[in-house]
Amino acid sequence: MAKQESELKEQKEMPIAYELAKKQKEISVAEFFTKNRHLLGFDNKRKALLMAVKEAVDNSLDACEEARVLPEISVEIIEMSEFKYKVVIEDNGPGIVKKQIPNIFAKLLYGSKFHTLKQARGQQGIGISAAVLYAQLTTGRPVKITSRVSKKEPAFYYELNIDTQNNKPVIAKEETVEWAKEHGTKVEIDLEAEYVKGNQSVDEYLKQTAVINPHITIIYTNPKSEQVIYARATDKLPDEPKEIKPHPYGVELGMLMDKLRWTESRTLQSFLTSEFSRVGPGTAKEICEHAAVLPNTKPSLVSRDMAEKLLQGIQKTKIIAPPTDCLSPIGEELLEKGLRKEIRAEFYCATSRPPSVYRGNPFIIEAAIAFGGEIPKEEKSNILRFANRVPLLYQEGACAMAESIVETNWKPYGLQQSADSIPFGPVVIVVHMASVWVPFTSESKEAIAHYPEIIKDIKLALQECGRLLGTYVRKKYRISEQLERANMFEMYIPEVAGSLSVLAKEKKEKILQGLQKMLVKPEIKKEITEEGDADDKLYRMEFKKENEEAREEAS
Ligand SMILES: Nc1ncnc2c1ncn2[C@@H]1O[C@H](COP(=O)(O)OP(=O)(O)OP(=O)(O)O)[C@@H](O)[C@H]1O
Ligand SMILES: [Mg+2]
Repeated sequence: MAKQESELKEQKEMPIAYELAKKQKEISVAEFFTKNRHLLGFDNKRKALLMAVKEAVDNSLDACEEARVLPEISVEIIEMSEFKYKVVIEDNGPGIVKKQIPNIFAKLLYGSKFHTLKQARGQQGIGISAAVLYAQLTTGRPVKITSRVSKKEPAFYYELNIDTQNNKPVIAKEETVEWAKEHGTKVEIDLEAEYVKGNQSVDEYLKQTAVINPHITIIYTNPKSEQVIYARATDKLPDEPKEIKPHPYGVELGMLMDKLRWTESRTLQSFLTSEFSRVGPGTAKEICEHAAVLPNTKPSLVSRDMAEKLLQGIQKTKIIAPPTDCLSPIGEELLEKGLRKEIRAEFYCATSRPPSVYRGNPFIIEAAIAFGGEIPKEEKSNILRFANRVPLLYQEGACAMAESIVETNWKPYGLQQSADSIPFGPVVIVVHMASVWVPFTSESKEAIAHYPEIIKDIKLALQECGRLLGTYVRKKYRISEQLERANMFEMYIPEVAGSLSVLAKEKKEKILQGLQKMLVKPEIKKEITEEGDADDKLYRMEFKKENEEAREEAS
């Protein structure tokens, strides 16, 4: 009887999993990032202001360069009330086609760069819509966009909100407007924020952007109505990076299987040549031989096991490094020029390394150093980190660049350094990584992941600059010691002259003049410039030559 009852009860009760199933549903990406806005960098009011400006300015610069226009960007921040600001960013770029405006600004994960392998500031397709999402969350106001693609077409004005449940744009207003600009885009965002100057501020971001992009002009008006103009130092646009296909060494099994499933190629050989860079018919055949699969196999018939063999075949085949015209480094000369323009120091040097590869992605590391002058002496050295010409202001400790600086021994280069720390002294250290895909540690794009290939190259770049710095610093110290001794001697000259004149029965004046002639101060000054310069030049030529040879080899 008891058994029958419990069986009945069991039949009546649904397994708990059915109950749980009622709560299981899809999560929209916009809802996800509403809860996790810190992942996008919007975790406090101060940082939010920086992020909103940064996302819009980075997009403007990318768009101008893609359209081969010298960027002229205006940035204005207006305080509306306490902790409420309006950010207005306007560019002279190509503008945005009307139909695309709502999706670009009010749909997360929508963009042109995610599927493209070439150097760009943006890569994820989430930047500007994240700023719009945060603005909507904190002020309830829509983003306002004005954009025009040519003087033959009108300018369009939009007010947009994001439907977070569906990650879709909602158009609040749409009209054509008069706009003096022939082409360009203007973005207006109202958001909860805080304006503070100093480290990690909008001011600092714009200043560093000007250092690393000597070809741009930024007109910046801060909430106090103070205007700063960063004028371009060169009229030459950076070389246009070319799009490349993935390199076979960077492909993973799942990705390879996906590609095999979707390809239009009829044979494995043509699949390999058309989907990957640096694979010609000969290399494709070799890969197939090493994998023990037939080159004329139909890609859709390649099983998981065969794909795994193919991957092993790729690793066994010698394939030349990926092309590097997908990258547009700044170059030694411009990097140094940019640094000279914004930082007052007494010594500068820069290096641009030959290309390297991580996970099949080509990258170039550049480094520069400024020393002395107006740089504070008694502080930790100032580190400026950049990825694809964008300043990285947060998460220094978590970044491969900081790790490389800490692991470099700076003492031989004339800087103080305690174990496991950043060197001390009047120095600014610049590191730039240019890549088709920068491996950021999070969506907010603040720190670079610790790939050994990347760290190795950063260290090499730092050592190249460090050696130059060392030569300069050593010479400077030696000469300052000599000067100190000369000064001491100078101090005692009148006294010595007095005693000598008594002993030698000569006029004190004459002895004084004689002794002063013996002072070698003018020669010392000459030495610091001439000898220092000669050494410097020799070493600069040496490392430039080495780098150029390596670069030629790589291309
Ligand atoms: N000012 C602009 N002018 C022209 N096109 C723009 C402009 N701003 C954005 N876009 C277009 O909108 C797309 C989406 O921008 P968004 O910032 O969301 O993503 P992204 O720049 O591709 O990547 P990331 O998330 O890394 O910033 C860009 O890829 C670009 O095609
Ligand atoms: Mg962007």
